[in-house]
Amino acid sequence: MPSNKNSRPKIGLVGGGNIGGILAQLACEKNLGDVAVFDINAGTAQGKALDIASSAAVEGFHANLEGGDNPAILKDAQVVIVTAGLPRKPGMSRDDLVESNAKIVSSIARHIKEQAPDAFVVCITNPLDVMVGHLQREANMPHEKVVGMAGVLDSARFRHFLALLLGVSEQDISAFVLGGHGDSMVPLARYSSVAGIPLPEIVRMGWTTQEKIDAVIERTRKGGAEVVNLMGTSAYFAPAASAIAMAQAYLHDEKRIFPCAAYCKGVYGVDGLYVGVPALIGAGGIEKIVEIELGEQERTLFQQSIDAVAALNEVLGALQQQGKI
Ligand code: NAI
Ligand code: 2OP
Repeated sequence: MPSNKNSRPKIGLVGGGNIGGILAQLACEKNLGDVAVFDINAGTAQGKALDIASSAAVEGFHANLEGGDNPAILKDAQVVIVTAGLPRKPGMSRDDLVESNAKIVSSIARHIKEQAPDAFVVCITNPLDVMVGHLQREANMPHEKVVGMAGVLDSARFRHFLALLLGVSEQDISAFVLGGHGDSMVPLARYSSVAGIPLPEIVRMGWTTQEKIDAVIERTRKGGAEVVNLMGTSAYFAPAASAIAMAQAYLHDEKRIFPCAAYCKGVYGVDGLYVGVPALIGAGGIEKIVEIELGEQERTLFQQSIDAVAALNEVLGALQQQGKI
């Protein structure tokens, strides 16, 4: 009889809600490994694991799936993706979630530390830049192994809106977004291009106007809210796809450069804060942060974004001092 043991990596998902379910499905369909879905709602986790496992015969993937409310199912996961927490409702900002989600992140940091201390951890829970820093501190894991997903999503939205504007494929657009995951994020037109042609050149060629590029940048900044207002809860397909790309880059040592919420100390003038920067992901986790030169206006906008993240970190610190977290 063949043994049940296999050499596939394990992807642990903390949170089996809207994003968690799509993460599980994508991880299986891309044959990234076995999947364990941990959620305080055991039935949701078990049900999604069973439902997705039942599509294996049709989709033709090879993965063991399990789900439940026992954190031991995360044991020895190589990658852990965290979505546990509340999503936004219409009218809420990501920042409104800080108190409720920080409590949840504190509890799951302990589980990750106990069950999968060597994992590459991708945090998605909002408010992203502050939650990923909180997760890293509470789990006390190496900075290069704990990263936040937001920039891949924000730049994918930027690429999509540019594709709509210019009538070209998203695949031929390269887009750059810096800073925190919030309204202060900084989509960088100068470092974004269509088939290698930078956006300012596209404007000079008369293909589109600066006003239309500015409108796309504004739509990108508010891309999350646009989806929340349409469907009453936050996006989950594109966020899951974005985090899976980061997990795959780690598992396959792809050396991809993605905009990630990475720990910055001494780069971009940031002194010990998680914030969105271009980072190289390979088998070592975050192997390098790429520091690009910023123009004066770009630096001002980036600094405003860093200040917004730092201010929210102070709110978190105050809540901790008051014993609320
Ligand atoms: P959801 O409500 O569908 O799923 C969250 C899941 O977490 C629920 O199933 C809940 O039972 C579970 N959960 C709550 N406390 C838990 C705990 N202590 N341990 C284990 N599981 C727990 O929410 P959704 O849509 O999946 O969003 C998850 C988070 O991702 C939200 O905070 C949302 O704001 C954020 N988000 C972040 C994005 C980004 O770009 N970083 C994009 C979209 C959403
Ligand atoms: C998003 O950008 C709400 O952060 C979430 O879709």
